[in-house]
Amino acid sequence: MRVTFFDTKSYDREFFSAAATTHGLELRFLEHRLDDSTTATAHDAEAVCCFVNDRLDRTVLTQLRAAKVRHVALRCAGFNNIDLAAAKELGLTVTRVPAYSPHAVAEHTVALLQTLNRKIHRAHNRVREHNFSLAGLVGFDLHGKTAGIIGTGRIGRITAEILRGFGMQVLAYDPFPSVEWAAAKGVAYVTLERLQAEGDVVSLHLPLTRETHHLVNEASLARMKPGVFLVNTSRGKLVDTTALIAALKSRHVGGVALDVYEEEEGVFFEDHSGRGLDDDELARLLTFPNVLITSHQAFLTREALAEIARVTSANLGHLAHRRPFLDGTQLA
Ligand code: NAI
Repeated sequence: MRVTFFDTKSYDREFFSAAATTHGLELRFLEHRLDDSTTATAHDAEAVCCFVNDRLDRTVLTQLRAAKVRHVALRCAGFNNIDLAAAKELGLTVTRVPAYSPHAVAEHTVALLQTLNRKIHRAHNRVREHNFSLAGLVGFDLHGKTAGIIGTGRIGRITAEILRGFGMQVLAYDPFPSVEWAAAKGVAYVTLERLQAEGDVVSLHLPLTRETHHLVNEASLARMKPGVFLVNTSRGKLVDTTALIAALKSRHVGGVALDVYEEEEGVFFEDHSGRGLDDDELARLLTFPNVLITSHQAFLTREALAEIARVTSANLGHLAHRRPFLDGTQLA
């Protein structure tokens, strides 16, 4: 079966080429993203394999269906970039990889938090310039502070457990709380308002939906503790960037660590060093000494890539042989 991959990098080619061998798949790797101007490049594939910034709206799905594509394999957990109702109507099946390595994302979340807090990125640059001064590098102990975890699914729970290991008090908010887990791990479920008011660190681990869009906005930022550290490794559009910049300018927010950004599509994963940034808000964020940004790399561990390739290739193999998809992976 022929599969066209969009938005691929060297690591996708490496891990998928290894995983696909046992499933008799014919893989075509494209570097550009999927949108309504690139659907034709799926050519005669029966399935397309897409990532977080490929656009899978009704127009694109209709074009794919007309080109005889019958399956969309998302090689990620989030699925906010696909119109599932349109996929169902068009008779396209859709799968994702729901849990490739929640540890990868949780560990990156804590790595970002501690890099920002202890100013490791700035210290590293200084020492490389033979500047061994400590001025401006003061951080705070996590021990004894309060973390607020919004969303206690796979990633949020692991992040909470790591932060408990630092000796933090952990408050959590989730409309579907994991009550037994919280009791076992010493985590307290509270209202969103209380979490925002008491968290020294607030970390987002919930999906992007119509309801959660701009969950962090002017009003919710105002409710947060002065000096709060905000960490977002989930989805960029959970945070209103304009409001965040205002809260940084007023010094209300003490630090911001982001692995995702509201308008990351077309910027993240690419090298813009030679041409500069068109996005003024991203450029402004990068001017703050207390903002740390990585380019949607929380998932990027060997274990996660191998698991993404294993699950996606198995599902594509099952599709070819008309067998059911792996449990919990089918969205449409
Ligand atoms: P999950 O589905 O296991 O957990 C999400 C949790 O959020 C659930 O417990 C759900 O009840 C909760 N939730 C839903 N609406 C909420 C709301 N309004 N307020 C609070 N909680 C709410 O998802 P998982 O695997 O933990 O992933 C979390 C997010 O991390 C994903 O949605 C995805 O966007 C992001 N992610 C980012 C990656 C990266 O590389 N930066 C990689 C993988 C996932």
